[in-house]
Amino acid sequence: MKKSCVIGWPIAHSRSPLIHNHWLAKHKIAGSYERVAVEPQHLESFLKNLAANGFVGCNVTLPHKETALAAVDHCDESVKAIGALNTVYVRNSETYATSTDGEGFLQNLLAHVPDFDPAGKNITLLGAGGSAKAIIECLLRAKVKSITVVNRTFSRAQDLQRTFGPKIIPADIVNLHLNLCDVLINTTSQGMAGQAPLEIDLSSLPTAAIVADIVYVPLITPFLRQAEARGHRTVPGLGMLLHQAVRGFELWFGVKPEVTPELYDLIAHDIDPDFKP
Ligand SMILES: NC(=O)c1ccc[n+]([C@@H]2O[C@H](COP(=O)([O-])OP(=O)(O)OC[C@H]3O[C@@H](n4cnc5c(N)ncnc54)[C@H](OP(=O)(O)O)[C@@H]3O)[C@@H](O)[C@H]2O)c1
Repeated sequence: MKKSCVIGWPIAHSRSPLIHNHWLAKHKIAGSYERVAVEPQHLESFLKNLAANGFVGCNVTLPHKETALAAVDHCDESVKAIGALNTVYVRNSETYATSTDGEGFLQNLLAHVPDFDPAGKNITLLGAGGSAKAIIECLLRAKVKSITVVNRTFSRAQDLQRTFGPKIIPADIVNLHLNLCDVLINTTSQGMAGQAPLEIDLSSLPTAAIVADIVYVPLITPFLRQAEARGHRTVPGLGMLLHQAVRGFELWFGVKPEVTPELYDLIAHDIDPDFKP
């Protein structure tokens, strides 16, 4: 029986087991996917012994996404660019790392706006943390024209320009001009349940612009409601969580699963028991 897991510290909140066990049942695969709490001081030995302990791979979440790089045998180009990983898989007893968050974001965007072509687009991205890096790396590969990065700590937006090059334009939220923006993305934790809401003036944003939020608790954030009320096409964050899981499942279990409405409803209901499809 093939087994995989998600590791983090703490890990009790992770919804990844719900997603992967849904796919395992759907594809009638004799496999398992569990949560494993791994303390930071045990991360290296856990990953070094992954294959020996019978795992075909694992997901890696906070606080290990960056420190895990030193404990795997091979990192792909996206992991090297971002400096973080979220998926590890085993081949010939060696560990390989990739990052699927950026692709998960893009696939979710395409699921909501199927005719969207990233090439040549101007992106405005709020936030400069781990998920921002993964999304930037993916959007640059998809040949966007520019990515304006707005962050509370301005120096972190400047760091992203140093890392990813001149298409990254650090900007200040005060006097932010959105008139050339094709896609506005929130990657900050503002608007998440228990956090301060994201407050932004959208009056200069063209109506044709797409507005995405990667926060998925609540399922529809106040920021997305504000954008919907102005007539924008909106992209909620839960789909990113589901789409980023596809690649790991395929690498571990050899079947490419689908993100279906049935899966969306299952996880949405877990997040919000009042959720109605
Ligand atoms: N949908 C998905 O699959 C998915 C995947 C990953 C993450 N997420 C969600 O995305 C959010 C960010 O995750 P992350 O891993 O990128 O976090 P992170 O690395 O800790 O970065 C957090 C970002 O939010 C900014 N921020 C936090 N509080 C703020 C505030 N009060 N005002 C202004 N800016 C604030 C930080 O700015 P500073 O640099 O100034 O601190 C930073 O840019 C979380 O809510 C997470 O749950 C969703």
